[in-house]
Amino acid sequence: MVSTPLPEQICSIEPAHWAGPFSPEQQTQATTALEDGRVVYLPTLDFAFSDDEKQYLTPAWSNGAAKNISYDARTGNIKGMKGDAAAQQGLARLLQRYADSTLSLMQSLFPAYKDALIRARTSFRPVQIAGRSSSPKKDDTRLHPDAFPTRPTAGKRIIRVFANVNPHGQGRDWRIGEPFADFARKMLPRIKPPVPLSREFLYLFRVTRTPRTAYDHYMLGLHDTGKLDEAYQKTATRASFSFPPHCTWICFSDEVLHAVDAGQYLMEQTYMLPHTAMAHPEKSPAKKLEEILGRKLL
Ligand code: SIN
Ligand code: FE
Repeated sequence: MVSTPLPEQICSIEPAHWAGPFSPEQQTQATTALEDGRVVYLPTLDFAFSDDEKQYLTPAWSNGAAKNISYDARTGNIKGMKGDAAAQQGLARLLQRYADSTLSLMQSLFPAYKDALIRARTSFRPVQIAGRSSSPKKDDTRLHPDAFPTRPTAGKRIIRVFANVNPHGQGRDWRIGEPFADFARKMLPRIKPPVPLSREFLYLFRVTRTPRTAYDHYMLGLHDTGKLDEAYQKTATRASFSFPPHCTWICFSDEVLHAVDAGQYLMEQTYMLPHTAMAHPEKSPAKKLEEILGRKLL
């Protein structure tokens, strides 16, 4: 077997189970890598489907409107899916199992975050990425840090746990960009400051679910400005890596510039983490943006 060399943006750890166990050295190594804006890659951690669950390995369950099938472990609601009630319940159980597996992983690999970690959406991505069309701002084949237009985080970090569950041997082809601060320094001069009262306006008219802070304004500005800059997109890739089937990886997706070019069948769990719960909050995008802009954002 030919193994691709790991780019420096990726840090590999080899647990046997979703609940570890991890040594204190591995926990520190993973936390440092994550907070330094690297991807923590778990090549031996497989989210295996049971024979019964394998019926979900087809894009036919997707309703075609949304990019992904999404699940809320807090309410049990599933969205973006076609199929009868029994099929929906079956996929919801699979997503719940992934949500629970990633929670034991997060708690055993990052014990320092344990009490502060907030569980958000779980998603299943059964649609082939290569050749899929979407508007430039929604196009994840363009390098970007994640920012949600309708769900401001008010400074909370976005952590995502991905597992490639492709049954046909296909990798998930990612590209990774430059460090966040370098990207921000290039893009920030083009992002206008928030308009006074726009935060209240967006909230009042339910464009956002909670008020959009100055931090969210700039994070969304970076996401959009970066994706729309064709010249930047042509030169911005720093590393390429194909995450093979049966592996898992984690990153602060609000910081790591990432793009996906190809792949089908992915599990994804989102967590939010108050930046104050980081081992080194000074490494957060909020602090980096505040330093570059010379103003408080939170
Ligand atoms: C993204 O978060 O931009 C997409 C990642 C993926 O689906 O592989
Ligand atoms: Fe993304």
